[in-house]
Amino acid sequence: MAPLVAGQVLEQKEDCFEVNNMLTNRPKTKILVDGGDPNETLRIKSLIGFVDGQTTNPSLIAKNPEIQRLIASGHKLSSREEKEEYKKIVRSISPLVGDAGVSIEVFADLDTPAEDMLVQGEEMFSWVPNAYVKYPCTHEGLRAAQLSVQKSIRVNITLCFSQEQAAAVYAATKGSKAPVYVSPFIGRLDDRGEDGMDLVRNIKKMYQHGDGHVHVLAASIRNVNHLLCSFALGAELATVPTKVLEEWAATGFSMPDQDFRYKGVDASGNLLKLIPYKELDLNLPWETFDIAHELTTKGIQKFVADYQSTLRRSA
Ligand code: E4P
Repeated sequence: MAPLVAGQVLEQKEDCFEVNNMLTNRPKTKILVDGGDPNETLRIKSLIGFVDGQTTNPSLIAKNPEIQRLIASGHKLSSREEKEEYKKIVRSISPLVGDAGVSIEVFADLDTPAEDMLVQGEEMFSWVPNAYVKYPCTHEGLRAAQLSVQKSIRVNITLCFSQEQAAAVYAATKGSKAPVYVSPFIGRLDDRGEDGMDLVRNIKKMYQHGDGHVHVLAASIRNVNHLLCSFALGAELATVPTKVLEEWAATGFSMPDQDFRYKGVDASGNLLKLIPYKELDLNLPWETFDIAHELTTKGIQKFVADYQSTLRRSA
């Protein structure tokens, strides 16, 4: 891949030259802000020049400054108020971002049936014109996704930690008119000593045999190297925390060139464990894939805990 020129650039505009610090040669990978604060989105938009989309989740919404202010003043929310706040936040973000849309996550615990998720998904999809509904990568989440795409609801399957899960996402959403997103969580795999970038690489390789209806959204990005490697692997999208986007901007919006090599190491510099590629048949029924993953379960539990931290005890 040839290096892209970015950073301090001269752009000809009719009869004058304009100097700016924004990224002008966009990477092929769409850039989404991973957060729950419209002001952050705005800040990144002026730093980079554009924001393709945004992902939110219950943990990020709980951290929204407005919600934090309410909680600090002793006002805990009812679940109805929490939903209204979520809607307000999403509606402020929606016009700031491009065609990768705003991903909105349903409130689901380990027992929530697909039908409940679907009811929430249908409502959330009506909040903004560029909504993607986020369902967890569980049996019920995939059932909800399957029902959603039949109703032309755009979906993003979150908390993906294995190639089997990504194969099931593909099979469950076949026939979707809009691109379906699958979100492999890189950083959380790294955290337990496995090389999260391998998962992105393996999914991209497996999808080469598919029809292209699922787009890989690299998630749980913790550093600029994760971002550059996502570009190099050809992830269609990457969702990135503000801090990492600011670090990337500080590098002059560096891009991976043909010499780019990614080395997955932990905080002490030890090599992360390779995640091997598996030959999986994307034409199998989705229910035949082994989609259980400990980190998906833990991720749901964490989202539930963060969601409940903003709620009144009686709610
Ligand atoms: C994106 O959709 C995810 O919610 C996000 O990337 C999770 O990142 P984390 O592992 O840093 O919480």
